[in-house]
Amino acid sequence: MRQALALAGSERYALAGMANVAAFLAHEMADVNWAGFYFWSRNEQALVLGPFCGKVACTRIAMGQGVCGTALAKGQTLVVPDVHAFSGHIACDSDSESETVVPMFWRGEPIGVLDVDSPRKNRFSQQDAAAFEAIAARVLERAPQACLALGGL
Ligand code: SME
Repeated sequence: MRQALALAGSERYALAGMANVAAFLAHEMADVNWAGFYFWSRNEQALVLGPFCGKVACTRIAMGQGVCGTALAKGQTLVVPDVHAFSGHIACDSDSESETVVPMFWRGEPIGVLDVDSPRKNRFSQQDAAAFEAIAARVLERAPQACLALGGL
């Protein structure tokens, strides 16, 4: 995870940092089939797909929808041990069995989410969630203006 933190903090171009974080989480963590970011578009009032590593995913998620939209609406990290038991879960990759979503805010403004999926139930511990929170925070701290700009696209 130290490497993921380093990647997250290495780029003032937020998209570049996010892309490498997604690749790292998907390729270097065991049992992860999808990892990536959605950013909150103020124009569209929706989460829009950002840099990710994994199968093709849905491009827009409304606030309060799915695990991603729920985590953003609640402003809290969601660790979902079994996605099939989460009412409203959006199945982008049918291999996904468990999921962790970290919402990202900068000075109270919604920025987006970091979403990590696993093909194994109960894959993510609270320790994993804390590591993902630290990674998302590092991306934001390194490039807050770039992250905010993404939402204006
Ligand atoms: N499962 C998510 C949708 C995004 S994909 O997992 C990549 C959700 O329910 O919000």
